[in-house]
Amino acid sequence: MPTVISFVSTKGGVGKTTLAANLAGILADYGMRVLALDADIQPSLSKFYPLLEQAPCGLRAIVMRGGNVQPDCISRTALSNLDLIYSDTPDGSLQTWLKDREDRLMIMRRAMASPALQHYNVVIIDTQGAVGELQKTAAMAADYMISPIKPDTLSAGEFSSGTLAMLDDLNRLADFGETFQSGDLYALINAQERNNNARTLTTVIRQKFAGFKKVRVLDTVVPSAAAYAAAATAQLPVHRYDRRLSVSNSAWHVMHRLVWELFPTLTEIYVDDVCADSHDDGAGTSEDGGAP
Ligand SMILES: Nc1ncnc2c1ncn2[C@@H]1O[C@H](COP(=O)(O)OP(=O)(O)O)[C@@H](O)[C@H]1O
Ligand SMILES: [Mg+2]
Repeated sequence: MPTVISFVSTKGGVGKTTLAANLAGILADYGMRVLALDADIQPSLSKFYPLLEQAPCGLRAIVMRGGNVQPDCISRTALSNLDLIYSDTPDGSLQTWLKDREDRLMIMRRAMASPALQHYNVVIIDTQGAVGELQKTAAMAADYMISPIKPDTLSAGEFSSGTLAMLDDLNRLADFGETFQSGDLYALINAQERNNNARTLTTVIRQKFAGFKKVRVLDTVVPSAAAYAAAATAQLPVHRYDRRLSVSNSAWHVMHRLVWELFPTLTEIYVDDVCADSHDDGAGTSEDGGAP
């Protein structure tokens, strides 16, 4: 079975799609077979990378078929090793439809067990920044969730009141008489500004969540950098876009650190070590320096 990672938060604009797409991109460059699943009804992960082959269906068919993923739902992106299930129901009807299904929390978990997905190493699910049935079913399908959090007081407050409440809620709702619990939640500090105030807030956030069961603040911190938006505009994974080896906070290093923390067996291994394809000096080095 693939490892399933869902990006969740009750807040929009914290970096879920950015980090989901870039994690998917770097894992694919490591040679893993990766599937990105866009479970946000506003399809932004769906458009992040160019498509080589667009499948006839996407998320809607998977949900309507009760969590059965057929090959006709899997699109191919221009990145080798990275496939996509696009989001195709912008009107919110999926949320309404899910509400009436008793097995709604299980639908995405069932989808992950579909034979068509068993050759993937990793599935990365992006969700909308709000609470809803789609988000919950995506959360319950995950081995673990990643919740980006911006180091400012408002976001930290929103994280505890919103995202942690959702986690609690899920684990209460999920009581089907036997133990059926969500995976752990990893908070990922994202878009940290380069000033003392932001760094202090990061420390406060770490202290605040130190004693929580099922919640861990990842050691990796993603700084605020123009490269993240610029790479998205160029439809490239950010580690290929900002490859500055001499800058410890370049996207190259940050994305590697994130991978090493999530997949410890890859520690100290760089994508270039495992995948000759990613020596594409054209796309990468010409953009060195991050912001164009
Ligand atoms: N580390 C970062 N540094 C700078 N900008 C970022 C960073 N992460 C995300 N952004 C920008 O923030 C905006 C919101 O990010 P997005 O991934 O769409 O959030 P979400 O999916 O949680 O709504 C985007 O314009 C994105 O480019
Ligand atoms: Mg998003």
